Amino acid sequence: MKIALVTGAASGLGAAIAQRLHADGMHVILTDIDQQGGQQQVAELGQHAEFFPLNVTREDQWKAAMEWARQRHGRLDVLVNNAGITTLGNIETLSLELLKQEFAVNVDSVFLGCQNAIDLMKTTGGAIINIASGCSRKVKAELAGYNASKAAVTMLSKTVALHCARQNYGIRVNTVHPGAMRTPIVDKVLQQSKDPEALMASFVADHPIGRIGEPQDIAAMVAFLASDQASFATGAEFFVDGGMTL
Ligand SMILES: NC(=O)c1ccc[n+]([C@@H]2O[C@H](COP(=O)([O-])OP(=O)(O)OC[C@H]3O[C@@H](n4cnc5c(N)ncnc54)[C@H](O)[C@@H]3O)[C@@H](O)[C@H]2O)c1
Repeated sequence: MKIALVTGAASGLGAAIAQRLHADGMHVILTDIDQQGGQQQVAELGQHAEFFPLNVTREDQWKAAMEWARQRHGRLDVLVNNAGITTLGNIETLSLELLKQEFAVNVDSVFLGCQNAIDLMKTTGGAIINIASGCSRKVKAELAGYNASKAAVTMLSKTVALHCARQNYGIRVNTVHPGAMRTPIVDKVLQQSKDPEALMASFVADHPIGRIGEPQDIAAMVAFLASDQASFATGAEFFVDGGMTL
């Protein structure tokens, strides 16, 4: 049985990804700072699911999570770096403090996750899937920090993919780029907005396919990349965005 660890698994895309990998027959370690939400997800999944508290910005907690996986399972096959935050602000309104916070959760997390997981994964091989965003490519003036952080995740992931391939570790690393998805992160952005209805209409208008996405749309792509069917895919960007970036 494959062992998978998903960050930010208490809600939204992370919860959907954990559910899908579990349904595909994996043992899933759900991690999050939201212990209650994480435990609730685990309770719903039942057997072959467990919760481990992990703040993805904390190196000590990453080490503890990897040690947990090593001791309990002796391996880690799949890592999904999903936890992320979105802060509204353009270059004139976004504070340095909020920019640093956004980079800590969105980028430091991927750096720490990859660095710590590789050590455990490199004996058996595995798949790392980093959740970037369509915003790594599509620019929105009000998402200055988010745009920059997701572009950073994309290029960082490629360096990890190249390194792992050259070291012959058998570890594939890819990014998934969602368009706007129906999850709590979108609700938070809408709440921060002065005109939530207009913002929602603009989200839909951004997607030529005529709707925003559902978490299961992303979970399906992650499941493919985590599977052996994707054995020749590494260092690549997979857009699941209803045509948003066209
Ligand atoms: N929802 C979208 O429209 C959308 C679009 C593109 C990309 N994404 C990306 O998908 C990922 C998941 O987004 P979502 O919509 O499910 O968000 P969400 O807010 O529903 O869930 C994010 C989860 O991450 C957790 N989290 C936040 N900070 C954390 C930290 N420091 N350590 C550990 N966990 C932490 C939260 O507790 C929450 O459970 C993010 O990386 C986001 O940028 C989302």
